[in-house]
Amino acid sequence: MQQPVRIAPSILASDFAKLGDEVRAVTDAGADYIHIDVMDGHFVPNITIGPDVIAALRDYSDKPFDTHLMISPVDSYLPAFAKAGADIITVQAEAGPHLHRSLQNVRDLGKKAGVALNPATPVESIEAVIGEVDLVLVMTVNPGFGGQSFIESQLEKIRKVRALIDAEDRTIDLEVDGGINFDTAPRAVAAGADVLVAGTATFKGGSNAYAGNIARLRDGSTIQ
Ligand code: DX5
Ligand code: ZN
Repeated sequence: MQQPVRIAPSILASDFAKLGDEVRAVTDAGADYIHIDVMDGHFVPNITIGPDVIAALRDYSDKPFDTHLMISPVDSYLPAFAKAGADIITVQAEAGPHLHRSLQNVRDLGKKAGVALNPATPVESIEAVIGEVDLVLVMTVNPGFGGQSFIESQLEKIRKVRALIDAEDRTIDLEVDGGINFDTAPRAVAAGADVLVAGTATFKGGSNAYAGNIARLRDGSTIQ
């Protein structure tokens, strides 16, 4: 069942020179999750942050750290992210040959397991592992950078993932990530999403604007 809309600011769009303050500011502004984009320069053409930075940020928020790993290989790094304070650890379905094992590894570490689908990856690729996940992340841009445009064709995929989740007898988050703004947020929610990652749309306008941005993303996206 679709849950109330939650907002997960992506700190990729924040001011990295004051990352701790930014995490605290979006927490105070009403963020539900803190979305942390980890990129390795191999799976995606960009490099961001690793476990040590996440550990340093842990004290700046009591919200779940929603850790999106765009790295390959992934398995050998999972313990480090768990230790750093990640609560949800999401791996890309395309990151390695043994997705089921990666998800089990996350759960064995006592963390919530998420699986992310690139725009070209079909929903069918996760049907066999839906029993192992707590969150499905539909990428609505190609991963690697913030500030890209929402890929409209992914709305149909969100609908299919919603049907897949609703056939399960437990709660699974349906998160969307990429190009989420005041226009695309309600449409993603209407298609079935219940967690909205928003980088650019959250951090626009400076810290005084964060609370308004988060509220507008959430309130504009009421579940029908
Ligand atoms: C892209 C990342 C996203 C990104 C979203 O690879 O996974 O989380 O930061 O940025 P916006 O909201 O600016 O599209
Ligand atoms: Zn992300």
